Amino acid sequence: MHFFQYKDNELYCEQVPVSDIARDVGTPFFLYSEATLTRHFQAFDSGFAGMPHLTCFAVKSCSNLAILNLFGRMGGGADIVSGGELFRALNAGIPADSIIYSGVGKTEKEIREALEAGILMFNIESPQELDRVQRVALELDAVAPIGFRVNPDVDPKTHSYISTGLAKNKFGIPVEDALQEYRRARDMKGVVIRGVSCHIGSQLTRIDPFVEALRKLKDFITRLEAEGIRVSYLDLGGGVGITYDNEQPPHPHDYAMAIKDELGDLDCTLILEPGRVIVGNAGILVTEVQYTKVNTGGSEDKHFVIVDAAMNDLTRPSLYGAYHDITPVRKTGAAEETVDIVGPICETGDFMARDRKLPKVEQGDLLAIMSSGAYGFTMASNYNSRTRAAEVLVRGDRYFVIRSREDYQDLVKGETIPEVG
Ligand code: LLP
Repeated sequence: MHFFQYKDNELYCEQVPVSDIARDVGTPFFLYSEATLTRHFQAFDSGFAGMPHLTCFAVKSCSNLAILNLFGRMGGGADIVSGGELFRALNAGIPADSIIYSGVGKTEKEIREALEAGILMFNIESPQELDRVQRVALELDAVAPIGFRVNPDVDPKTHSYISTGLAKNKFGIPVEDALQEYRRARDMKGVVIRGVSCHIGSQLTRIDPFVEALRKLKDFITRLEAEGIRVSYLDLGGGVGITYDNEQPPHPHDYAMAIKDELGDLDCTLILEPGRVIVGNAGILVTEVQYTKVNTGGSEDKHFVIVDAAMNDLTRPSLYGAYHDITPVRKTGAAEETVDIVGPICETGDFMARDRKLPKVEQGDLLAIMSSGAYGFTMASNYNSRTRAAEVLVRGDRYFVIRSREDYQDLVKGETIPEVG
């Protein structure tokens, strides 16, 4: 349930007509609804009410300071995967001791920064990383709180690029090897064992892979306990999937129930790292039609709608073949036609949708690319030297530009031409 709705054939975000914002801010821009963000965070978090838990929002899905700050004020922590995300989370006011650090490639510098900040836990993904974390901790005269990300070898049944919990994926440590790493960590001075984690993939539309992974983790915790190693945090990774088209993902409450049932009386604080389920349907990308054209000469005429958003703004359709619903900001009642909605970038792979039925649009019309709140702006680039879009947040009948559109100076920031000779 989100707060992007039509009134008199005009798309509104909460109480603000989307076209008013486009007029003031220009296009393309990402538009988020604060009421939707709040509702989704609470819907997820409240499912775990009554159990000790911490919802650490996955910063990679949507990292604007205003949005991180909103979740922080609701008691959320952060799941980070880089020094940059640590910087964002801290700047947004998220307490360091609610920050979890995941990822297979943490550098020394990043580890140092996280240790100095005092984060809750590093999720360690390899034996070499354990050695590095312990070395940096000793150098700083600190003790690093750690858990290991175990790879439970569970098929999450999602797109192969975002499936992470299979033995063949680069993530985590196989359960078999993890025991040995916990033993090693127990005997180290620079680290203290806090937890165990896993993350099997993103955009999951079924509950059973989560339950299967949890079952394997529970068995593993029992084996740890048999060795006298106690963990107090159990991190289950990302959240459930969302509806882009006609997927029917589990409701977050059903997910929470299934986890509760499987957990039984395990005495651990749960950590959840949802991203998409909270922000995905709380944001849209608004774009303006620049041209329409028909290419004839093939076996059939091809209708193109060329918009001012491109694969550098929203890369999901190009990268994963992902589906995003696209709808006119003003409904005109025009007859539908089948079109490719494409951007200005010089690649055939630059499309928002292909062979899509859309009411006939004209130059200057606005389109809303739905479900763009997660992995939208955060995956944007400057390809084709395009400035990155603005981000706007609506609160009731007001809106705030929470990130201004980049300008040309931003494009060349840090570049220099060496003197000739
Ligand atoms: N925790 C870890 C360790 C992760 O790697 C991820 C996502 C999450 C949590 C959040 O998962 P979520 O709740 O959002 O499913 N760019 C892709 C998605 C990549 C997901 C990467 N990891 C896309 O646009 O679909």
